[in-house]
Amino acid sequence: MSSRLETEHLYKVFGRRPDAAVERLRQGADREELRADGTTAAVIDASFTVEPGQIFVVMGLSGSGKSTLLRMLNGLLEPTAGHVRFDGQDLTALTGRELREVRSRKISMVFQHFALFPHRSVRQNAAYGLEVQGVPRAERERRADEALALCGLAGWEKSWPDELSGGMQQRVGLARALATDADLLLMDESFSALDPLIRRDMQDQLLQLQKTLKKTIVFITHDLNEAMRLGDRIAVMRDGRIVQIGGAEEILLRPADDYVASFTQDVDRSRVLTAQAVMDREVRGDEADCGCETAREDTPFTELCAISARVPHPVAVRDARGALVGVVPRQRLVGFLGDEQATPVSCDAPRDKGGEKAVARA
Ligand SMILES: Nc1ncnc2c1ncn2[C@@H]1O[C@H](COP(=O)(O)OP(=O)(O)O)[C@@H](O)[C@H]1O
Ligand SMILES: [Mg+2]
Repeated sequence: MSSRLETEHLYKVFGRRPDAAVERLRQGADREELRADGTTAAVIDASFTVEPGQIFVVMGLSGSGKSTLLRMLNGLLEPTAGHVRFDGQDLTALTGRELREVRSRKISMVFQHFALFPHRSVRQNAAYGLEVQGVPRAERERRADEALALCGLAGWEKSWPDELSGGMQQRVGLARALATDADLLLMDESFSALDPLIRRDMQDQLLQLQKTLKKTIVFITHDLNEAMRLGDRIAVMRDGRIVQIGGAEEILLRPADDYVASFTQDVDRSRVLTAQAVMDREVRGDEADCGCETAREDTPFTELCAISARVPHPVAVRDARGALVGVVPRQRLVGFLGDEQATPVSCDAPRDKGGEKAVARA
């Protein structure tokens, strides 16, 4: 499968003399210096790869450049410098017409405030992208209905948008994106306007869909909890730059700087961490094989706590073949829920050995 997405040294500068600004950024100037000249460096030197079937999350505070980055991925904005490649094609080298063609067939976008056409049925709304592509009516209705069913809206095809709740309307937006069969799904704060329970529901639904659809997804959010639930990999943006790219555990346990660390304080660690991040890898032979319940490397933290409560000694962690790869002492579990031991970056005080060991090995 070739629907890999790649960006290479991508820049977007708004304002006067953007090329000169990129040159200055390459030489180490930052956003503030350029702002003094009335120039905004929205995205600075972004390079990353999203493999087919991956959910790549971009997170950062408002104004950090997330939406600008996303709009360059489907060619809605032309990069000031750098390249975007999708499915083996350099989007930055295409003519306007070729780009529109790629955008309508291969790329779908779901926005935060998804605008449905009020005088079209749910089915017609979901079929809109196909209509733009010129797909005949019978086929586009069939595909729209399939996408609606995938999004949990079977039976609502003939309803009007105002008969649907906010969460359901957002599902229609997702269905519209899925109906086109696009390989690349771009989602800009798609769930941010939803209330927390519905939002979680949509996150679950997306993860569930992704198991079978295996799209290449770039998902933007300013919420690290959401990023960690959804992202196979997460890029954290600050002032136009990507300051860290990594998996959820990596960002939680080894934030690249204080900015990233400040987000991780609000994260529910027990939902992110798994046994392999928490366990002690130095295992003595005599700790194996007592017949007690054990964990796997990917056992979620909460389940690990439950196992720990049931066995009289540290929990053994086994790999897929059953080999012992680590142990988790009970007191380690308590340490990982607090900030002190799991977020060592901004701590100047000497650390106790146990905490440091756990972090170094995670
Ligand atoms: N069309 C534009 N013209 C000028 N500045 C813009 C434009 N679009 C975005 N910006 C600026 O670029 C920066 C990044 O914006 P944006 O990509 O929307 O960030 P985010 O999505 O992370 O909130 C902000 O300072 C914003 O004001
Ligand atoms: Mg935005």
